[in-house]
Amino acid sequence: MTRVIGICSGKGGVGKTTVATNLSIALKDLGKRILIIDCNLSTPHLAYYLGATDYKYTLNDALQGKVDITSTVTPYYGMKFIPASLDMKDLVAIDPMSFKKHLKKILASKNLDFVILDSAPGLGREAVTVLDAADEIIFVTNPFAPTINDVMRSLDVLKELKGGKNVSIVLNMVTGNPHEISANSINDLTHIPVVGEIPFDQNVILSMVSKSPIINYKSSSDASLGIRALAAHLVGAEFKMPAHVKVKKVLQKMKNYFTPQKVSMPQDEESVKEEVFIQK
Ligand SMILES: Nc1ncnc2c1ncn2[C@@H]1O[C@H](COP(=O)(O)OP(=O)(O)O)[C@@H](O)[C@H]1O
Ligand SMILES: [Mg+2]
Repeated sequence: MTRVIGICSGKGGVGKTTVATNLSIALKDLGKRILIIDCNLSTPHLAYYLGATDYKYTLNDALQGKVDITSTVTPYYGMKFIPASLDMKDLVAIDPMSFKKHLKKILASKNLDFVILDSAPGLGREAVTVLDAADEIIFVTNPFAPTINDVMRSLDVLKELKGGKNVSIVLNMVTGNPHEISANSINDLTHIPVVGEIPFDQNVILSMVSKSPIINYKSSSDASLGIRALAAHLVGAEFKMPAHVKVKKVLQKMKNYFTPQKVSMPQDEESVKEEVFIQK
């Protein structure tokens, strides 16, 4: 059976497309058959992040009824993707809500282990389409109160949609600094499991500029390892984090313990918790 995973977030810029593209490649490297779809029709970035320019049709073409959805499926180094159109005029006369029907057709006609949906942020029509179409939802968030608060709003919308979905959280751009909310606290606040932590990694920005996903650009980088650990978790495979990464984490904890905080953000988890609840 194909697992359809929506990569969602309450807020933009948290790393959805980065996670969606690299997670897809990491799953492909684990021998899985992957299709990744750009469901962010307003601001599509998937093809750019993949460094892919060679495609004939887009999701917009299928949603406008110009071509069959199966013709939009494009090969990409051992996996497949469907881009969205970069042309603003292709946003006219599309019905994102018909996406589910097209997805059904893909699932019936292609042998796939995973379909990864790269969502638009927030709670607009495009984002709700993904929340509705996916069986599993991964919320990508950064470890700060406002983005976690946005996840909680999306969780409220999810409750309204039918079907028990498997929901989890991936923390992205984690530095381990003391002003960040820990995975445990996020778990306590949301009651959603945090299934992955991807470090903040300058290489991600360099990889994007080079139009090469971080996993291919620098496979041993901290972010690549975080993404591979997430992929392994999703398929129940074992992943051994290299010793140097574990040592780095311990050193950061020691540094936090001995360094007085200079940040002007809420200083302890209780006040952050309060802030999240007040906003809710
Ligand atoms: N782990 C990370 N470390 C450093 N930069 C990151 C990381 N993840 C994403 N980024 C950068 O953050 C920006 C937003 O990421 P993107 O994946 O486009 O977010 P979204 O799809 O949620 O809008 C990009 O410039 C990307 O390179
Ligand atoms: Mg994006």
